[in-house]
Amino acid sequence: MPEIVSPARRVDGMITLPGDKSISHRYAMLGAIADGTTTLANFSTGADCQSTLRCVEALGAKIERREGIVTIEGTRLTEPAAQLDAGNSGSTIRMLSGILAAQPFTSRIGGDESLSRRPMQRVMTPLDQMGASIEARDGKFPPLTIHGRPLQAIDYTLPVASAQVKSCVLLAGLFAKGDTIVREPVRTRDHTEIALREFGAEIEIERRVIALREGARLTGRELTVPGDLSSAAFFLVAALLMPEANLLIHGVGLNPTRSSLLDFLVSMGAAIKVIDVQQTGGELVGDLRVRASKISGGVIDGAMTAALIDEIPALAVLGAASEHGLTVRDASELRVKETDRIATLEANFSRMGVKMEAAPDGFHIAGRQTFHAAEVDSEGDHRIAMAFAIAALAADGPSVIQGAEAAAVSFPEFFSTLRQITT
Ligand code: S3P
Repeated sequence: MPEIVSPARRVDGMITLPGDKSISHRYAMLGAIADGTTTLANFSTGADCQSTLRCVEALGAKIERREGIVTIEGTRLTEPAAQLDAGNSGSTIRMLSGILAAQPFTSRIGGDESLSRRPMQRVMTPLDQMGASIEARDGKFPPLTIHGRPLQAIDYTLPVASAQVKSCVLLAGLFAKGDTIVREPVRTRDHTEIALREFGAEIEIERRVIALREGARLTGRELTVPGDLSSAAFFLVAALLMPEANLLIHGVGLNPTRSSLLDFLVSMGAAIKVIDVQQTGGELVGDLRVRASKISGGVIDGAMTAALIDEIPALAVLGAASEHGLTVRDASELRVKETDRIATLEANFSRMGVKMEAAPDGFHIAGRQTFHAAEVDSEGDHRIAMAFAIAALAADGPSVIQGAEAAAVSFPEFFSTLRQITT
């Protein structure tokens, strides 16, 4: 379904965001296998996290959704009656595979067309080393058929910077014989480590080496999911594109493995203030105030690319409006997200008359470019839909966002929130 977005001059008001997508997945999975009841406030409203809930429900966990609270009764998982549906969600299929690999039954898990094109060897390899037996379409794509087995712990060095793969191995490690070690080449989001500790697992972290002790017993918890900083990114960029802006975003997750976004924006000149930081469930949460700013431009590469991987579509839009533009390197992972994001950025910028030079593992986008009103297309990718809705605010006339409904994958309230803060 298309959405029409008109140009705006001003972004202001106060908003709260749905719960963080990454944290919601992890709490739902751990709640499903923990002893007792887990109660989750501000659980993500995104379709991806609903896919995770439906999967664990099909595996025997009892789920109740009432007035924004999700309650999960943990259980010994049972064989699902049908193929599990991860929808559009890479996190669901990759992380849940770790749990399924250890169960005393066979399960099948697949998803939509986009998910069916995404690489799964990255989780199949370590799970195979732990003793599981997994079949995939063409040896690498969903659906996966996972024959659960008793698992043996491994010491695994991640070949790609991926929190999903790290999490998959750690979740499998919960059921394995021996201590599970995961070594990361660069730091990735650590929500699984924090959540495992919250639910009662013994986990030690030294630099980028994570050790999960054998025989963890997880216990249900009462937790509040912080607002999603990756969703906040679109509104921060919207504010920074406008000549006038004063926006307060309330209760956003500020985990240091996610908050490089704020450091990067501030390094480019953004007037962002972090207010009232607190801790909940081991995660940092605070309010963000953003005001209109002059943005210089910047380079994203190396470890910074991994830390900003989900925010690059939004930052690309800001880059085109910045003084000196944006260069992104070491980002071949962008090619295997919900879409090939280098290609979908390039195609949509071109429709808006914005020039972008693509490379196999990144791109350069010059600054001070003019956004022309256009018909853009998300190609079913939530972050592309939202990035170009923001770009449309800075255009010279109303733009049409085709496939706008994709935003619901992480943020169903995106377009209504956008209308609420723009004039
Ligand atoms: C996620 C990890 C990242 C990220 C995705 C969510 C997670 O994927 O892009 O949106 O919750 O662990 P990779 O692990 O593929 O880098």
